[in-house]
Amino acid sequence: MNPDLAIIGGTGLYAFPGLENVRHESVATPFGATSGEIVSGMLAGKRVAFLARHGEAHTLAPHRVNYRANVWALHHLGARRMLGVNAVGGITAKMGPRTLAVPDQLIDYTHGRLDSFCDVERAKVEHIDFTEPYGAVLRAALLAAAERAGIAVVDGGCYGATQGPRLETRAEIARLRRDGCDLVGMTGMPEAALARELGVDYACLALVANWAAGCADETSISLPEIFANLATATAQVPPIVGALLAKE
Ligand code: HPA
Repeated sequence: MNPDLAIIGGTGLYAFPGLENVRHESVATPFGATSGEIVSGMLAGKRVAFLARHGEAHTLAPHRVNYRANVWALHHLGARRMLGVNAVGGITAKMGPRTLAVPDQLIDYTHGRLDSFCDVERAKVEHIDFTEPYGAVLRAALLAAAERAGIAVVDGGCYGATQGPRLETRAEIARLRRDGCDLVGMTGMPEAALARELGVDYACLALVANWAAGCADETSISLPEIFANLATATAQVPPIVGALLAKE
């Protein structure tokens, strides 16, 4: 199919609005099953492949997502650009609830995830450069598209990838802040590194659902509020992607 863009949808984004001539397909991979069928279709005259990271009914917790299968399958279909859409918590002042951000750095705090295509018998070990974990070309295109669409997006920020599925403690978030993280999410890794292993131009569009633990006056995080904020932020994603594709 050679998609012009692959989109991996996170919490709250289980289907991509506006896709036309939609086709569902299962892709078998050497790494097991993907999170679900890949939905291909046309958007702004371009080919798009969409995959719901947690499954269409959100049945896969962050640590159970088969990131390798997902990234491999989209690459196998011909995708050379991937946009990961990720729900996150905001840590620093500019990252309040409902903010959209395109991070430029990450720190990986996850553990026990299968996080490399080299991690199989007899696979040749390749070391990737990951100094800049996100693709410069797609990041720039995304930021320019948001501007054309008239949607405010924060350019940059460090994404701390935690294991989940629980939210963090106040002390954990204080540590992430000291480490330089602006955002915290559970699914940014190993997706970004796997995309880099395959030479894919990968960017993250982070949607802030809540202040991370201890970053607001409240002593706890309200889950209904998370989902309401996320719905507001998610509604901004299709116009940005539409503006991205329409330009090309
Ligand atoms: N922490 C981790 N992941 C998240 C959060 C959070 O506060 N909010 C949405 N995803």
